[in-house]
Amino acid sequence: MTDKIPVIIDCDPGHDDAMALVLAFANQKLDIRAVTVTGGNQTLAKTLRNAKNVLHCLGKQPLVAAGADKPLCRDLQVAPNVHGETGLDGTNLAEAPWSEVKESAWELTHRLIEESEKPITLITLGPLTNIAILLSAYPKIRRRIKRISLMGGSVLAGGNWTSAAEFNIVVDPEAADIVFTSGIPITMCGLDVTHKAMILPPELAELKQHGGRASKLVSELVDFYWIFHSNQGFAGAPLHDPCAVAALAAPELFTMRDMHIDIETRGTYTTGMTLADHRMWTKAPPNASVCLDLNRPAFIRLLIDACKSYG
Ligand code: RIB
Ligand code: CA
Repeated sequence: MTDKIPVIIDCDPGHDDAMALVLAFANQKLDIRAVTVTGGNQTLAKTLRNAKNVLHCLGKQPLVAAGADKPLCRDLQVAPNVHGETGLDGTNLAEAPWSEVKESAWELTHRLIEESEKPITLITLGPLTNIAILLSAYPKIRRRIKRISLMGGSVLAGGNWTSAAEFNIVVDPEAADIVFTSGIPITMCGLDVTHKAMILPPELAELKQHGGRASKLVSELVDFYWIFHSNQGFAGAPLHDPCAVAALAAPELFTMRDMHIDIETRGTYTTGMTLADHRMWTKAPPNASVCLDLNRPAFIRLLIDACKSYG
């Protein structure tokens, strides 16, 4: 029995999802059992293709399953303004020669959790539709999910898709509500911490100088990703999704606070908001460990070392 953390990663690649996969598959603390995919940054067909091609580029071939092509009860919103028409613009990856499994994301996740010798941790990097379907279709599965480390929301930093809401939550707020009321322990990596998790030009230069396959991939991803973010006043490219991996693999790099989070699903201006109860006298039990700060240089070093480990 290894002391590695068994995980399943759900993602919507997406540039920062791809960087999160680079980090996760190089991390010695994680035992990645599968990668599942959802629509989000782009349509499911594109995010599925991107996930397989990134994994193939890294020389990895985990179980991959396709999940939801749209939110539970809303139309899908995609983000070509950030990730381009392919969802991974700026890269030119070879097509993975292998296919995803026939099972859906929730069927595969359910089977692997039931078969696992110990509870599994979920790392979610996109809208939470697949997880909501899993919890709804298999209500007892939640007792075998150790934790969900998710990229999503914010408690002080406002929104990035609307003035109040972060993309992963607002694309499917009903799914987020199911997850945040599930009782499963949550580590929430919201914009409060991911906006600080920037890779800066000298660090990017180190990756470019290294030139290995993962370093080249991440360099290309950051170069394209930077186009959108440099116009937003950032000093560097904020690496949202890798935070959800690092918060699980290296929690000592993060400052977290246990808070009660409610998901707004009906607000005229606030739909998708992750509303934190900041009242000192609140009786609302915490349902998330919210990441508020991080050791940025050490976090970026983790990613750079991960890139170099692929040779
Ligand atoms: O708001 C940032 C999040 O939305 C990231 O997960 C990014 O990949 C997009 O999915
Ligand atoms: Ca994502």
